[in-house]
Amino acid sequence: MNAELHHGLRIDGDRLLRRIEDLAAIGPIDGGGSCRLALTDEDRAGRDLVVTWMRDLGLDVTIDAIGNVIGMRAGRTDGPPTMTGSHIDTVRTGGRYDGNLGVLAGLEVIETLERNGVQTEHPVAVGFFTDEEGARFPPDMLGSLVYVGGMAVEEALDIEGIDGAIVGAELDRIGYRGTSPCPGPSPRAFVELHVEQGPVLEAEGITIGAVTGVQGISWTELTITGQSNHAGTTPMELRHDPGYVAAAVAAHVRDLAVRMNAAGPEGGDRQVGTVGRLELEPNLVNVVAASASMTVDLRNTDEALLQEAEADLARFVAQTAAAEGVTVTERTLARFEPVTFDDRVVDTVADVARRLGHTVKHMPSGAGHDAQMLARVCPTGMVFVPSRDGVSHNPAEHTDPADLVAGADVLLQTMLALDGLSLDGATLQRAGLYSEESDR
Ligand code: GLV
Ligand code: MN
Ligand code: MN
Repeated sequence: MNAELHHGLRIDGDRLLRRIEDLAAIGPIDGGGSCRLALTDEDRAGRDLVVTWMRDLGLDVTIDAIGNVIGMRAGRTDGPPTMTGSHIDTVRTGGRYDGNLGVLAGLEVIETLERNGVQTEHPVAVGFFTDEEGARFPPDMLGSLVYVGGMAVEEALDIEGIDGAIVGAELDRIGYRGTSPCPGPSPRAFVELHVEQGPVLEAEGITIGAVTGVQGISWTELTITGQSNHAGTTPMELRHDPGYVAAAVAAHVRDLAVRMNAAGPEGGDRQVGTVGRLELEPNLVNVVAASASMTVDLRNTDEALLQEAEADLARFVAQTAAAEGVTVTERTLARFEPVTFDDRVVDTVADVARRLGHTVKHMPSGAGHDAQMLARVCPTGMVFVPSRDGVSHNPAEHTDPADLVAGADVLLQTMLALDGLSLDGATLQRAGLYSEESDR
């Protein structure tokens, strides 16, 4: 392997930025973002564009039974690929970079290898996974969960979305129910580039996050049923008001997170809590609601603390419902324990980033990512780049072009370094492009 040859290899920033713009133009929304909810017509159009780019590059494209798409470039030897990827579905108020950056940077890595005639030892793959957001079909990371065998594909195909649509039927409708089996083949390593979606890197003036893991996620849907009645004539003490209970629960979710953080170590495992969806029926000014439907999103990097938060919420819901005389049914929409990434991959990301002249911070991810699923089956890590003002799941999401390019170059060199690493067994053998001798 020739260390010098690849040392100066860089992605084509203009090409990457152009592709980001082209994909963002599908499902455009006010404010410069995109709406491509999973398995909608817009998602199909985004998929078609990325698949076209994959085929233009001569990649071997496979689509599996849950609609995950993987483009593969052969290596000198056969066997599992060094893989990257992310998602191209968005929340309804999506930005241009969440997920899209990871997929398009992966494509750019492969195009860079192709144009420079670089042959890797192992195959290299880029994929996009179905319904990472979970905003239409819970849970989030659905496609990658099925890919690694965490949920049977039959179960996933039956999931009903917030609009009543069914995953399997929507996959058929948009033409993305493929024939490759699930679970899919494990890569030899996986690394995902993503925007941070939080404020840390920008606030500290750091360009690259070497992501150490992902916090645990707990999503619960509460359906509260009471007694609908006249808002003017029903005495307060006679009400069974789901709207009141929903509002109290929403306030409690905020309070419990604030209380846990006040008690915990500064900068330690932080609890967050969100009520992101709340609907009342019949939702009229002068009617005590008949029912309320709401979601609670709780997250913590510490599993025991996350369980504490869940138990606190359950106690409060039970007490408040009993006092108001309403009934509550609960449904778990997603529950994933915190994930720790493979030190070898995390260290490779940090090492490569420093050698490329970037500042680096080791940090956990607050958002869920496909990489946390892949971590179940192969050595996995992630690269973060800064998000302006920490804003995401919002059309105002922004990352400076220089940081997008820096992240893609770190991804390129990380994949090349991983290509040269022996990842079998516990011993880390540096055999790659960034050997200690060749780079100093
Ligand atoms: C998924 O992207 C999430 O973190 O909500
Ligand atoms: Mn994402
Ligand atoms: Mn997202």
